[in-house]
Amino acid sequence: MIPDKVPNENVFHGSMDLKKEAHIPSFEKYKEMYVNSIENPDAFWGAVAKDFFWKTKPTGQFLDYNFDVTKGEIFIKCMEGASTNISYNLLDRNVYEKKLGDKIAFFWEGNEPGDELTVTYRELLKKVCQFANVLKSQGVKKGDRVSIYMPMVVELVVAMLACVRIGAVHSIVFAGFSAGSLCERILDSQCSLLITADGFYRGDKLINLKVIADEALQKCRDKGFPIQRCIMLKHVSSKPVEIVGAHSPPAKRSCPDLQEKQTGKVKKTRPLLQQVPWNPEVDLCWHTLMHGASDECEPEWCESEDPLFILYTSGSTGRPKGVLHTVSGYMLYCAATFKMVFDHQSDDVYWCTADIGWITGHSYITYGPLANGATSVLFEGLPTYPDVSRLWEIVDKYHVTKFYTAPTAIRLLMKFGVEPVQKYKRESLKILGTVGEPINPEAWQWYYNVVGEKRCPIVDTFWQTETGGHVLTPLPAATPMKPGSATFPFFGVIPAILNESGEELEGPSEGYLVFKQPWPGLMRTVYGNHQRFETTYFKKFPGYYVTGDGCRRDEDGYYWITGRIDDMLNVSGHLLSTAEVESALVEHKAVAEAAVVGRPHPVKGESLYCFVTLTNGVTYNQNLEAELKKQVREKIGAIATLDYIQNAPGLPKTRSGKIMRRLLRKIASNEKDLGDISTLADSTVVEQLFQERCSTAM
Ligand code: WTA
Repeated sequence: MIPDKVPNENVFHGSMDLKKEAHIPSFEKYKEMYVNSIENPDAFWGAVAKDFFWKTKPTGQFLDYNFDVTKGEIFIKCMEGASTNISYNLLDRNVYEKKLGDKIAFFWEGNEPGDELTVTYRELLKKVCQFANVLKSQGVKKGDRVSIYMPMVVELVVAMLACVRIGAVHSIVFAGFSAGSLCERILDSQCSLLITADGFYRGDKLINLKVIADEALQKCRDKGFPIQRCIMLKHVSSKPVEIVGAHSPPAKRSCPDLQEKQTGKVKKTRPLLQQVPWNPEVDLCWHTLMHGASDECEPEWCESEDPLFILYTSGSTGRPKGVLHTVSGYMLYCAATFKMVFDHQSDDVYWCTADIGWITGHSYITYGPLANGATSVLFEGLPTYPDVSRLWEIVDKYHVTKFYTAPTAIRLLMKFGVEPVQKYKRESLKILGTVGEPINPEAWQWYYNVVGEKRCPIVDTFWQTETGGHVLTPLPAATPMKPGSATFPFFGVIPAILNESGEELEGPSEGYLVFKQPWPGLMRTVYGNHQRFETTYFKKFPGYYVTGDGCRRDEDGYYWITGRIDDMLNVSGHLLSTAEVESALVEHKAVAEAAVVGRPHPVKGESLYCFVTLTNGVTYNQNLEAELKKQVREKIGAIATLDYIQNAPGLPKTRSGKIMRRLLRKIASNEKDLGDISTLADSTVVEQLFQERCSTAM
């Protein structure tokens, strides 16, 4: 399964310095631990669990499960009989047992350069206890669902861990989602309370979050679900704020000045919000409630399989799925992956640029880092604001050692060349990471050569909202890297590649990526719809968890994600991955970004329709078109003939930056029925692409 030997040539190695201190310093060590994790999971995970506090110990085997729909209901249980509390493990244990009370948990960096705060583990524990008491005073109990709709502020972490402390289930909705999407998620999980903020800045743009939240709550009321409470944090409004009673009578409660002493400076150079809509029947002020709350709160001890959180992810039918994670397995998996994949050391400053509204932020901003007593940067802003050097400026400011971002951010910054990167030293960086989509080798090389100056290994981490944490990933000091490959499985994970008939393929092959058994962090169900969980992930190939991704295994045993399986194209009987064609296109210096979709073809089955975004200053013409066709043909073979190329100044993306291929397929085939576009960041892009479709494809 894991090869005995890995190649020495045409691969990249972590530096010798890194190997000296690394948790897993060699491929041999990785292999030995991997075999142990599969053959003896109780011992392997038992050792991880030793580092945490358990109110009661497990009674049975570490994992119990059924993965085969033909044998009955699918279930996954981990550490049955054990009970714990994650907020206790992330905070009290670090403060009291590990003596990390004065260690900085987060350096908060606001949207405006210079807006900054720091919060230590002790301060975080205090705030979490206070807010947990606030939630209790509002009647929130163990098992209740709480919706959180907030910008990237420390209070978002406080809100989520306060839920965890009292055993309530958080459902975080990314603050870029619309009122309709928020309402849909509140209704699906029947949340009893919403936590939000007045607003926030995204670059120059002010987002009136409370206005959107109010609209969502009104929609909930209209649908017969009157949510009783909404707690609002003041983040960008003037103090005291003028409160406008959106639902008169005039405000009875007010939202006074921020009472707490904060460490750091917040200089608010942008105009503040002067008015915030306020519904006295429902709205409560975060600061007022916190002011009177005790900072001691006994944690609620939870069973291993009690629900921890719900996070919605898009489903192929358009209706989002509420992915449910549970307490013990998720905690252990986040902690172990964070420690080993980023090779966490106590003096690290770690930075993940994701938003906590997505799974990457849940697992690798909140749970994984805090479980390890890490110091992290929590960034509210954008990589391009106020200029395209912002990320590197922050790396130097906080001496960031481990940096984790998405390929889309790298490709975006690549367009501006090396100068904005080289304006800053980046000497502190040791390990770089990527997540979210396949990284094309050209972007990988740029990240490696320009950002990391050939010094830092890149961990290309493949995983999903459903998997809870990394499942295929290099270990930075152990795994020789191939640009674009997520390499090998993490401990406890057994991947396989299946063909259309569900047969496991051996050796070099390409097909469906599946997993043969659960690991502690795998999702347990789709909230309120276990049948959908079984149908989506277990029905197609009984006995396996189906990722929905295509995958290739090369002659050295390395795994390469080829993109969602629905992005696989079958051209004249040959499977072709869109990611492969895109990578070939992006290697051309005129192309900044490319997206390829299939368009039905009467002879070949499918033809390739390509959308290309050109580098600044390049104009599209027939010569360039010919060059691109030649390049892809040369790179992949005659089967990869580009039938249509469309110059696309912008691509339709979700708010998290993922290209929405489903929409591109509609544009390619000129189908105007777009289905659910609630996750689309900018709809004008789609209109423009429709108007400028390839004339030959009419
Ligand atoms: C894709 C994000 C290639 C994949 C953590 C997966 C990747 C989907 C990688 C999950 C990677 C994520 N290489 N593809 N390193 N990481 N993906 O649920 O298609 O937002 O199924 O979780 O992103 O996206 P999700």
